[in-house]
Amino acid sequence: MRKVLCVVAGTLMLAAFGGPAFAEGDAAKGKELFTTKCGICHQVGPGAKTLVGPELNGIVGRKAASIADFPSYSAGMKKLGDDGYVWTEEHIDTWITDPKAMIPDSMMALAFQGVPDAAERADIIAYLKTLSQ
Ligand code: HEC
Repeated sequence: MRKVLCVVAGTLMLAAFGGPAFAEGDAAKGKELFTTKCGICHQVGPGAKTLVGPELNGIVGRKAASIADFPSYSAGMKKLGDDGYVWTEEHIDTWITDPKAMIPDSMMALAFQGVPDAAERADIIAYLKTLSQ
């Protein structure tokens, strides 16, 4: 009986906190990870410009392919934007896990393998959430 109660309590906790995949990350760690893994191609912060990739201010909640002065969105990314795809935390998590799985011919997929570690992804997303438009 006790064991059953434990299982029930554990399941309820997982449901309440959305499971470990979307545990709240550490924004300070995420900033470092972003700088080393994403910063070669993406700028953020005041005056951020388009580099190899579009600037990512306010990316959480931003529509895909919506930076007007980024000239090289892939056809796949433009299609997502046209379909109204929004970069929620879950969508960013899927994208940076394995860009190739989502848009195989995207320039980001060709040049970047992704971030296999779920905790690192959560940290990066926590940092992205601190960046407003
Ligand atoms: C090698 C360069 C490169 C690296 C490294 C890279 N990206 Fe990208 N990123 C791109 C390019 C190029 C695009 C546009 C892709 C397309 O149009 O298919 C893009 C697109 C994106 C988008 C969609 C932007 C939009 O306006 O719709 C997000 C979100 C994103 N990257 C996040 C990240 C994160 C987070 C990291 C680090 C974990 C990262 N990227 C690493 C080049 C890169």
